[in-house]
Amino acid sequence: MKEVKIGICGLGTVGGGTVTVLQRNAELIAGRAGCRLIIAQAASRRRPEHIELGTIPFSDDIFQVVQNPEIDIVVELIGGCETALELVLAAIENGKHVVTANKALIAVHGNEIFEAAARHGVVVAFESSVAGGIPVLKAIREGLAANRINWLAGIINGTGNYILSEMRSGRAFDEVLREAQALGYAEADPTFDVEGIDAAHKLTILASSAFGVPLQFEKAYTEGIANITPYDISHAESLGYRIKHLGIARRQADGIELRVHPTLVPVRHLIANVDGVLNAVLVDGDAVGQTMYYGPGAGAEATASAVIADLVDVARSVAAGSSQRVPYLGFEPEALEELAV
Ligand code: HSE
Repeated sequence: MKEVKIGICGLGTVGGGTVTVLQRNAELIAGRAGCRLIIAQAASRRRPEHIELGTIPFSDDIFQVVQNPEIDIVVELIGGCETALELVLAAIENGKHVVTANKALIAVHGNEIFEAAARHGVVVAFESSVAGGIPVLKAIREGLAANRINWLAGIINGTGNYILSEMRSGRAFDEVLREAQALGYAEADPTFDVEGIDAAHKLTILASSAFGVPLQFEKAYTEGIANITPYDISHAESLGYRIKHLGIARRQADGIELRVHPTLVPVRHLIANVDGVLNAVLVDGDAVGQTMYYGPGAGAEATASAVIADLVDVARSVAAGSSQRVPYLGFEPEALEELAV
């Protein structure tokens, strides 16, 4: 069986989950990919104690991975924007395919990254950047390919949803946030979770995939949950509503509207009953009607599941010797509409 060599940059929560699942399910994954995924190198600033690296070569210099001539696919899991952008562009320039879970990177620098990838004939895959383990981008790009999407709306930040869910039973905001951090759900800077920035990153990516518009993070209206009080929650419940933090993208006459904010949802609605760190995304297409995608929105192995799904997709083409590129966000660049938001 052919081997495809991968290099993993970043061995935190998601990096650890990715190494663990790749090793545990190696045979099964090879069967699905039609080739063996070999971790030729793993790199992070410090050698992690919590991850069993076994014989995997380790480096404390992530840039060694993108220079390693053996490696076909670079997995970027370091997070943040500056170094990650430098790393991803270097990988692309060296002719390597990239898999990333970095929503901030894709939402803010994606247009530049996809342009570079198209120039070098490589793929940048980013399923795990939105809604953790839920394959919602794949569903939009492939399963709903026949549809004109009218709108999508969802709970796309697990930490925020966990905080709002726990506050319903009277727990304090700060205490629940600390717990979400300890469980590895929150961002390195948790203000991204509570101020809605993380959800706006994900909504930007979802909207580009669904509507075929360039990534336009700066145009999203963004409001978080930091000002929600226990009184707001109980008052809403007494009126038959639940406060959910939603990302909403809707086709309007003059463009695509993007907004992230706390929303009153009738308690009987499915989405009002998505609790904890779970995410759910509703997508309305003209042919299929409404569909809903539900599951774990954060966490080590849940996110690793989506990272490895991308790895399998890319590795299949590498093993087949195919130069075929997955279209930019599901749309060829020339098909992107310059719609104002
Ligand atoms: N902090 C993010 C969340 C992690 O809570 O949803 C997954 O993107």
